[in-house]
This record gives sequence, C-alpha cells and structure tokens, in this order.
Amino acid sequence: MEEERIVTNKELQEDTFETSIRPDSIDEYIGQADVKENIKVFIDAAKMRNETLDHVLLYGPPGLGKTTLANIIANELGSNLKTASGPSIEKSGDLAAVLSTLEPGDVLFIDEIHRMPRYIEEILYPAMEDFTLDIIIGNDSSTRNIKIDLPPFTLVGATTRAGDLTSPLRDRFGIICKLQYYTIPELEQIVKRTSRVLDVPIEDNAAIELAKRSRGTPRIANRLFKRVRDFAIVKGNGIIDVDIVQMALDRLKVDDLGLDDTDYQLLKAIIERFNGGPVGIEAIASSIGEEVTTIEDVYEPYLLQIGLLKRTARGRMATKKAYEHLKIEFQEKLF
Ligand SMILES: Nc1ncnc2c1ncn2[C@@H]1O[C@H](COP(=O)(O)OP(=O)(O)O)[C@@H](O)[C@H]1O
Ligand SMILES: [Mg+2]
Repeated sequence: MEEERIVTNKELQEDTFETSIRPDSIDEYIGQADVKENIKVFIDAAKMRNETLDHVLLYGPPGLGKTTLANIIANELGSNLKTASGPSIEKSGDLAAVLSTLEPGDVLFIDEIHRMPRYIEEILYPAMEDFTLDIIIGNDSSTRNIKIDLPPFTLVGATTRAGDLTSPLRDRFGIICKLQYYTIPELEQIVKRTSRVLDVPIEDNAAIELAKRSRGTPRIANRLFKRVRDFAIVKGNGIIDVDIVQMALDRLKVDDLGLDDTDYQLLKAIIERFNGGPVGIEAIASSIGEEVTTIEDVYEPYLLQIGLLKRTARGRMATKKAYEHLKIEFQEKLF
C-alpha cells in the first residue's frame, strides 16, 4: 500500500514535525540554486520598486520544498501568507471568500492549484491580472455581475503536475520555477541542518549514507532521519553513526539507493515478465496491480531520475544498471 511506504514522497501523518524543521529564510533553503537566484532578484526588484512580486508558480514532485519556498517568499517580502488548497476550493464562493480577506502585499499560497475546478479558475484570471474580483450574485431569475477591487497581492501556486494546468492559468504567472531533485551533497546538508535543529548529532559518513537513500527528496531525508534517530536512542548512544543508519534502513527495507519492495516489484515485473521491455505502462500497471497514474506520479520518477528505468517511444525499459542493481544477469539486445 502506497500510504505505508516509508520512502513515499507524499506527506504522511507522521510528518507533522516538518513545520518545525522548515527553513524560513532563503539563505537557509539548501540547493535549487537557479530557482533561489531568480527569486532573490525578483524579490529585491519588487521591493526596490515598491511593487508586489509577480505571481509565482512552483512545480515539481512532492517533498522538494514548494510549501517551504512559498513561506520563505512571504517572509522575505515581509508579507503575510494566506493559504488555500486546490481541492478545498469547491465553490466559487470559497475562492471569493479567500480573495476578499487579502490585504495589500499579501502572499496567497494555493497548493495543488491544478486541482481547482476550471470554472473557479476563471475567477482567478481577473484577480491575477487586474486585482479585481468579478462575481455573479443572485439566482436564476435575477443575477447581476459585481466587480470588487482587490488590493495588490502575489499569488504563489504549487503543483506537482504543471502539465495539468490550463494554459490561460499558466500564462498568468510571471515567474515559473521548476524544482529539481536534490543531489546527495545537498541532501547531506539538509540532513545536517535537521540534526542541528533537532539537536541530534549525526556523523559525517552517516549523513552521507542517509542522503544516498533519500531519493533526492528532502521530505524523505527528514523522515528517515527521524526513524534513524529512534534507533540511535534505543540501540546506540543517541549519536547517529553509519552503522545505526545501515541497521535502521535495513530494518525498514530501504536499500542503498533508497529503493523499497515496491520499486523491486516494478523493476522485476519489467525484467522477468517483459524481458526488460520496452513495455507499455498499461501492461506494467496491470501486471503489478497498480493504477497507471500512481506508477507515473509516484513510482517511476525516481527510477527514471537515477537511470534504472528508461522511457522510450515503445514503452518503459529496465536499464543495464537496473539489472546490475537487482543482481540479474543482463544480456545485450541486438535491437
Ligand atoms: N531546500 C530545502 N532546504 C532544507 N529543507 C528543505 C528544503 N526543501 C524542503 N525541505 C524540507 O522538506 C520538507 C518537505 O518540504 P515541502 O516544502 O513541504 O515540500 P512540497 O511542498 O514540495 O511537497 C520540509 O519540512 C522541509 O523541512
Ligand atoms: Mg507542499
């Protein structure tokens, strides 16, 4: 079950501690150098001109720091952050209510913005463009259009699927930032930062080991850190060393690349049942009893990222590296 995977990038119940370890200034935000540099320039320019920051769209897989960055943008601007999420905006009135609470310079963060219904999205267009709220009030027999002026504000939208955003909405964002998976040295820094904030010491090589198994994702790094810390307290002296990391992650069935049973199942299906591919995603999905979208959104991105899986015009293929990692003999194909 996806919900129970320790290495999932989705937010889990146990992640409530995330807010306590979230960096709150741009300088504390590790990695994403290009995005940071851009945002810094735009924030400085907006401040110098005494204008609001252009609307910002953040996109990328779960757990890479979109919500964190939205908070940081508001902090750096010295503005208040108001938060809403796509799925919770069900009626146009819900959005109108949020918009009407905005004060000059506020940052409105809409998480999972791609999940907002289309007809509600249309309310956002004039709000983003001219800071006006166009609403229709009344019932079938008598309706009228009213226009309400909104104060200038910055919309920060976050989405895991930029492709699911309609182009009229996407076009209204002046700043579009794609978050990337983190490198191992960046994750190592994040792990060390968490260690300082939580005041739980970790040795250098242990931090590297943890970073390697975090699937390029700070959320996973922090979650693993928390579990490893428990092992260090119970089995060790409270200091996280590399033996503790290895023992804990072996117990949690997370291998040295951060793969778990689900990843093995997927790769094995391609290798053993489809001769390594290429094979269509639908066939893989039915063979392991999963939804196509779950494979595309949750299982596959990291496997593609680390080069165990390849996407070709004719379907997915397990790479030579995948065979090696699974210790299955690889036979070069002629075509
Ligand atoms: N660049 C970063 N530097 C340090 N910690 C980070 C960074 N990005 C994310 N994190 C940590 O990872 C956790 C998940 O990030 P979050 O912003 O909630 O991801 P998203 O909104 O993209 O799913 C946060 O609690 C935060 O502590
Ligand atoms: Mg988030």
